[in-house]
Amino acid sequence: MGRSTWKYQVFFLFCLILHSQLPFPSSLSTSFSSMPPCSALLHFTSWQEDKHCCTWDGVECDKNTSLVVGLDLTSSWLYGNILSNSTLFFLPNLRRLNLADNAFNDSLIPSEFGNFKSLTHLNLSYSVFSGQIPFEISQLSSLVSLDLSKNELLVKALVWKRVIGNLTQLRELILDSTNMSSIRPNFLMNLSSSLTTLSLHYCDLQGQLENNILCLPSIQTLDLTGNWNLEGSLLKSNWSCSSLKFLGLSGRMFSREFLNSIDNLKSLKHLALPGCNITGSIPAWPGILTKLTYLDLSNNSFSGLLPSSLFNLPNLSTLLLGYNQLVGPLPSHVSGLNLIVLSLSSNFLNGTLPSWLFSMPSLESLYLYGNQFVGEIGEFKYNSLKYLNLGYNKLHGSIPRSVSRLVNLTTLYLSSNNLSIMLGSEMFSKLKNLETLDLSNNSVSINNNAAYALPNLQYLYLAYSNISEFPIFLRLTTNLQSLDLSNNRIYGQVPRWLGDVGNNSLYYVDLRNNLLQGPFPILNSSNLQFMFFSNNKLTGEIPSFICNAIYLAVLD
Ligand SMILES: *[C@@H]1O[C@H](CO)[C@@H](O)[C@H](O)[C@H]1NC(C)=O
Ligand SMILES: *[C@@H]1O[C@H](CO)[C@@H](O)[C@H](O)[C@H]1NC(C)=O
Ligand SMILES: *[C@@H]1O[C@H](CO)[C@@H](O)[C@H](O)[C@H]1NC(C)=O
Ligand SMILES: *[C@@H]1O[C@H](CO)[C@@H](O)[C@H](O)[C@H]1NC(C)=O
Ligand SMILES: *[C@@H]1O[C@H](CO)[C@@H](O)[C@H](O)[C@H]1NC(C)=O
Ligand SMILES: *[C@@H]1O[C@H](CO)[C@@H](O)[C@H](O)[C@H]1NC(C)=O
Ligand SMILES: *[C@@H]1O[C@H](CO)[C@@H](O)[C@H](O)[C@H]1NC(C)=O
Ligand SMILES: *[C@@H]1O[C@H](CO)[C@@H](O)[C@H](O)[C@H]1NC(C)=O
Ligand SMILES: *[C@@H]1O[C@H](CO)[C@@H](O)[C@H](O)[C@H]1NC(C)=O
Ligand SMILES: *[C@@H]1O[C@H](CO)[C@@H](O)[C@H](O)[C@H]1NC(C)=O
Ligand SMILES: *[C@@H]1O[C@H](CO)[C@@H](O)[C@H](O)[C@H]1NC(C)=O
Ligand SMILES: *[C@@H]1O[C@H](CO)[C@@H](O)[C@H](O)[C@H]1NC(C)=O
Repeated sequence: MGRSTWKYQVFFLFCLILHSQLPFPSSLSTSFSSMPPCSALLHFTSWQEDKHCCTWDGVECDKNTSLVVGLDLTSSWLYGNILSNSTLFFLPNLRRLNLADNAFNDSLIPSEFGNFKSLTHLNLSYSVFSGQIPFEISQLSSLVSLDLSKNELLVKALVWKRVIGNLTQLRELILDSTNMSSIRPNFLMNLSSSLTTLSLHYCDLQGQLENNILCLPSIQTLDLTGNWNLEGSLLKSNWSCSSLKFLGLSGRMFSREFLNSIDNLKSLKHLALPGCNITGSIPAWPGILTKLTYLDLSNNSFSGLLPSSLFNLPNLSTLLLGYNQLVGPLPSHVSGLNLIVLSLSSNFLNGTLPSWLFSMPSLESLYLYGNQFVGEIGEFKYNSLKYLNLGYNKLHGSIPRSVSRLVNLTTLYLSSNNLSIMLGSEMFSKLKNLETLDLSNNSVSINNNAAYALPNLQYLYLAYSNISEFPIFLRLTTNLQSLDLSNNRIYGQVPRWLGDVGNNSLYYVDLRNNLLQGPFPILNSSNLQFMFFSNNKLTGEIPSFICNAIYLAVLD
């Protein structure tokens, strides 16, 4: 038995790999086909020939029977179709199967998955499956954990009914980004009472949600965010039935009473209520607030001043309050705030930026765009920042010197302020990870004498920034995709080197409304889609490279 199982494994893995066309160079894979299977697998990173296949990475066998009971091929670069005759289905004793994070190229989930009668854990998330979830999934009555999230799947009412009727052992059900638009929310009733995790994020659920769903006896994680069309008149829920640690809801379903009753969820760590159309002030939540690690109240209509209770939350790592109608200044001092992500974007906040914003040792993302902040940007005390977005405020002064030390910065977005910015080596020479730089609508001057490079830059926006020359560091930005230098005073001929910027990644170029002269620039990227050159003084013929730009969508 052990022997034939072993053969099955090799056969299965070999066939899966051949069918899935692992991204070997084609010359290699041709030579593999004449080799015995194990040697072919040798070349698959850490697989080793000299050991029994049960010891291979990702293969788990029953100690007594040597039957393969677990297969974990997460992120294994598998791609291609899984057909119903795949050798995968020769492993009927599987208990755990994880094929997450591969690319099965819009395969349907074959109904043969229903044959894995012993399966307790099935994970097919993020693997480019599409079509309907087959009803045979409901035959897997031993399933404890089912994760089909982040594919392009559709679940129909009949299948859903069978699934919840038959999978009575389920503890985790994760279907994020599955189209559930034909499932009425009351079908969420009668779910397995052992369920601890129900995640239906972005499932297009619509209609009236009843209280009952929130009251599964063992539920710890409930994520219904991104279902904008859920409705309900949730009143005060009897939260004493709940051990919720993670609650996420979206849609129009809240009474103020319900909102306040969330404070009874004493185990709550993660609270997300984005897009719930909630009005009024942010609740005080004295029972839960100090315990939360994650709070998302973005995209509502919260108004009024920021409550001071929000600024003494030592356990909080993410605070998202963007897209509301909050007013007034930020507190000048806070104690015990150690955030990783802070978003206050798109509110009506005013006053200056207090120094505590720049003194959080682990802060990676700071989004304050679209407010009415004035004054200067402070100096960063730590270097952890990756995303900085202060656009659309009324900030003045220069970019603080400490920005030059933010070695992990990938996005710097300062557009539409009153900043005076010198683009030169002092500021940018260490920002090797910078991918997006948007300084549009400020006053920028360029120091073209200093040599420095932004090797990873993909997006450069310097529109309306009063520059008069091309930034010379662009010569070395081989990954540039998008370039906007429009509405400036750039004069003279377009330098020849501009043609090679972005090799073959450049798709967007906007040089409108400048003072460019001479012949039409020749751009060599084969990926050009948008080219804007109007309102300059270019002369001569339109060059023929434009006829070769096969993806061109707009030429102005
Ligand atoms: C293996 O067999 C032994 C002895 O029959 C038994 O005690 C043990 O529980 C078995 N292990 C598994 C994983 O089935
Ligand atoms: C994916 O499927 C499409 C259509 O079924 C096919 O044209 C394409 O070649 C496939 N790609 C891969 C990598 O298998
Ligand atoms: C599996 O089925 C496909 C078409 O349904 C066929 O082309 C292929 O040869 C079959 N493979 C095996 C191993 O039987
Ligand atoms: C499924 O696999 C993915 C990728 O390894 C992982 O992120 C996810 O947590 C798994 N799902 C479950 C329910 O364990
Ligand atoms: C429920 O599971 C049992 C046992 O696996 C199976 O025989 C039956 O067909 C399933 N029912 C449905 C409706 O899928
Ligand atoms: C979801 O599925 C329904 C059919 O049940 C379909 O009409 C709708 O277009 C799908 N939604 C998306 C976003 O694909
Ligand atoms: C839930 O279960 C009850 C009792 O088994 C049944 O009467 C009801 O129709 C079920 N509700 C749904 C929505 O399936
Ligand atoms: C809430 O639930 C608890 C325990 O399940 C129960 O004892 C109590 O009566 C319920 N309260 C209300 C108002 O339904
Ligand atoms: C904000 O919420 C509304 C529903 O209230 C939704 O339609 C919209 O997509 C949400 N926006 C974002 C960016 O999530
Ligand atoms: C939000 O609620 C107000 C009434 O309070 C309503 O007029 C508005 O249409 C709602 N917005 C959305 C996106 O549902
Ligand atoms: C800030 O906004 C508040 C509330 O709208 C307002 O009362 C205050 O005058 C504003 N302060 C400044 C300096 O504009
Ligand atoms: C930059 O990122 C790397 C990798 O995530 C990390 O090890 C390093 O500590 C970060 N540097 C700073 C200054 O935070």
